[in-house]
Amino acid sequence: MHPQEQKNSPNRSPGDSYDQRTGSKASYWQRQQFQKVLGHYAHPGMHWLELGAGTGTDALWLTNRGIEITCMEPHPWMFAQLQAKTSDVAAIHALPLKAEQLDDLGKHVFDGAFSNFAALNCVENLSGVAQALAEHLKVGAPVVLCLFNRLCGWELALGLLQGLAQRNPERLWRRQVHQRLVEMQPGIEISTFYHQPREIMQAFEPLFRLEARVGMGIAIPPAGWILADRAPAFFQALNHLDMAWGKGLGLRSLGDHQIWCFTRR
Ligand SMILES: C[S@@+](CC[C@H](N)C(=O)[O-])C[C@H]1O[C@@H](n2cnc3c(N)ncnc32)[C@H](O)[C@@H]1O
Repeated sequence: MHPQEQKNSPNRSPGDSYDQRTGSKASYWQRQQFQKVLGHYAHPGMHWLELGAGTGTDALWLTNRGIEITCMEPHPWMFAQLQAKTSDVAAIHALPLKAEQLDDLGKHVFDGAFSNFAALNCVENLSGVAQALAEHLKVGAPVVLCLFNRLCGWELALGLLQGLAQRNPERLWRRQVHQRLVEMQPGIEISTFYHQPREIMQAFEPLFRLEARVGMGIAIPPAGWILADRAPAFFQALNHLDMAWGKGLGLRSLGDHQIWCFTRR
């Protein structure tokens, strides 16, 4: 964990909960887009593994579809919310572990694995995680990963305007750095790595076969998460565009996030 993260206290007030902060309509729609893809691969009776589970929203959604799920979540503040939300659900097993600690799962082999909303952008060594993950998956098992894109069309356009106006070229290339701190919650910053698509492929390709890539947040700007509640009809129209554009070859890599679907070789 980054030194700054050590200072973050897990004892925050309920008003600071992650679900409240990310509970806008746009984030709900984006989660629905992710779940639509996940639902294509996740079937009743399976046991899945989630990396960076947050408060367990997707895990709960999976249990409602008859799926058992082991959730890894390393941040103490987030893990406390995960436990509070899921401790009475027998099909969810929560573990306070990073993605880099897959070896701590012992010899358990899962039917599928996923990670949503950029949890794997908190991991520097993706190849290490891909190799360890492969050890815990059956042959043919699906892996559905939603990561930040390296390029985001909206950020580039807004950064261009701001950068030119303020003569601040850094605004243009917010994601073009290897590592930066991103605020997950006021007062809680985590190290974030914007992996290139080729780096993601290099990490997973040797042991996983790429099945599909879907862009998310192409039409809805990143700040739209907040604005969507004020103009829902307009943003819902953008959301429909997002779903239509998500599989477009040129566009999917310009969204805020991209969903990568692999199967274990
Ligand atoms: C933006 S949140 C997404 C949470 C959840 N997946 C969701 O969809 O709401 C990113 C999550 O990644 C977790 N995380 C941070 N470092 C991690 C690591 N090294 N391995 C796995 N998860 C990590 C954070 O604690 C946080 O819960």
